[in-house]
Amino acid sequence: MRSAAQIKGHPLHPMLVAFPIAFGVAAPVADSVGVIGEWATLWSAGAYLATAAVIGGLVAGVPGLIDYVLVVPPNSSASRRATWHLGVNLAALALIGAGWAFRHPDTLQPGTGTIVAEFVGLAVMTAGGWLGGTLVFRNQIGVDHRYAGAGKWKEATLTGKGGETIEVASADELKVGQMKLLHVNGLRVVLARTESGYSAFDDRCPHRGGSLADGVLACGTVTCPWHGSQFDARTGAVTAGPAEQSVQTYHVEEVGGRVRLVVPAG
Ligand code: FES
Repeated sequence: MRSAAQIKGHPLHPMLVAFPIAFGVAAPVADSVGVIGEWATLWSAGAYLATAAVIGGLVAGVPGLIDYVLVVPPNSSASRRATWHLGVNLAALALIGAGWAFRHPDTLQPGTGTIVAEFVGLAVMTAGGWLGGTLVFRNQIGVDHRYAGAGKWKEATLTGKGGETIEVASADELKVGQMKLLHVNGLRVVLARTESGYSAFDDRCPHRGGSLADGVLACGTVTCPWHGSQFDARTGAVTAGPAEQSVQTYHVEEVGGRVRLVVPAG
């Protein structure tokens, strides 16, 4: 689903991670070759490359953190994976930074501990990259979903008291087959337009927490993007697994050209 830290739909996090990866590779190589060849200039470069890797990683982590909080579906396999991704990459940066502790304070010559910490940090960073790749290529975090009929990703944050009826869209805002993700008092609700009108249901797929708003809606059926479970968009009933539980639905009505949702209690 669409990144919250993006420029024209292009997520910032994958753009920025190229820098710490490049510096994280270059630092141990420069330090190792510098020590072997006794080139002080090269190991000095290694020291600054290691620092750049840590700073670059922290900067790249900011948009990643924004997407972790705002985009990754909560209580899902992706949220657990994203937590690991965050922790593993922080550990990688800590290892690379710790290499400084083994440098000579004046000449910056790296000790064995520096080179070991940097290579281990690079290996850990590679594992973090693997997890990040899975978040993008399997969980589709940061993918800007477009609907048939040129519909763009739609999302809105709303508040209301439980049982209150609130306006969530104009009747012509969505075309048949399009959806909109609503954050209602922190609850993620999908507004969907099918051939038989508007309906609303939980965004969370009961299988492993995939975002149904990021799925495909066709012929009154919504398909989860992660493992393909299908649900009736009006009743929430499962029409194809692997999900076994139905999706919670909510009451919506169309009045005077406006679509209104009854705010779920609690
Ligand atoms: S999360 Fe597996 S089918 Fe939806």
